[in-house]
Amino acid sequence: MKPRKPLVAGNWKMNGGTLANEHLFTGLRASIDRHLMSQVELIVCPPYPYLGQAAAWLGDTDIAWGGQNVASLESGAFTGEVSATMLEDLGCKWTIVGHSERRTLLGEEDETISRKAELALAQKLNVIYCIGETLDERERDITEEVLRQQIERAAPVIASAPAERFVIAYEPVWAIGTGRSATPEQAQAVHEFIRTTMAAMGVQHARQIRIVYGGSVKPSNALALFSMPDIDGGLIGGASLVADEFVAICRAAALG
Ligand code: 13P
Repeated sequence: MKPRKPLVAGNWKMNGGTLANEHLFTGLRASIDRHLMSQVELIVCPPYPYLGQAAAWLGDTDIAWGGQNVASLESGAFTGEVSATMLEDLGCKWTIVGHSERRTLLGEEDETISRKAELALAQKLNVIYCIGETLDERERDITEEVLRQQIERAAPVIASAPAERFVIAYEPVWAIGTGRSATPEQAQAVHEFIRTTMAAMGVQHARQIRIVYGGSVKPSNALALFSMPDIDGGLIGGASLVADEFVAICRAAALG
């Protein structure tokens, strides 16, 4: 038994549509029972336009829903942005911030990401905060340096958040959507590094904070990953779009 309740979140990215989502919600409702929910915290993060649909389909279950991103500003003339207040208004319990696709494709930086986390927490949203190195950084052997910098920027906000409301997602960029997952040992080594680094930076509840792994998690590799002592669940992309696969991953989290 892990000292922390495992958490599995599905990041649907820019996928789905009303009908496809209905199919997926139906599959989740059919397979996820109270027993599983008592063992694992489950979240789905559809694109913004479908958050209302998530509320309608999941409102009477223990599966939570959340945003894939949130604005770094409170409100006003910021065309296309969605605020923490709006997510909360749509029943979201969580939001992802700092996903690598936003860091690399949209130029999001640590300062903005930690501001988003701060605003989200103030608005009663819980936060999944993504960090990770690129392939180039891993090959140059600077993974720890890159992560240390990302954690350093986030440390004040992590330190101020209750442990159950803040999750770190370690997503090595080279493992995302490539089918090439980190090995359980590789991921465990980094998770342990993240935990000790947080503690060294003054995060007193570093042992209680969940650190989940993301990057090509599938039913076939989930249990081996989640059995590692510092891997507390997963942030799932592609496999979260198929109900059976997502449920199998959630079951693996309960066993890990
Ligand atoms: P994949 O599971 O598709 O590799 O995506 C991981 C991810 O980016 C989740 O946020």
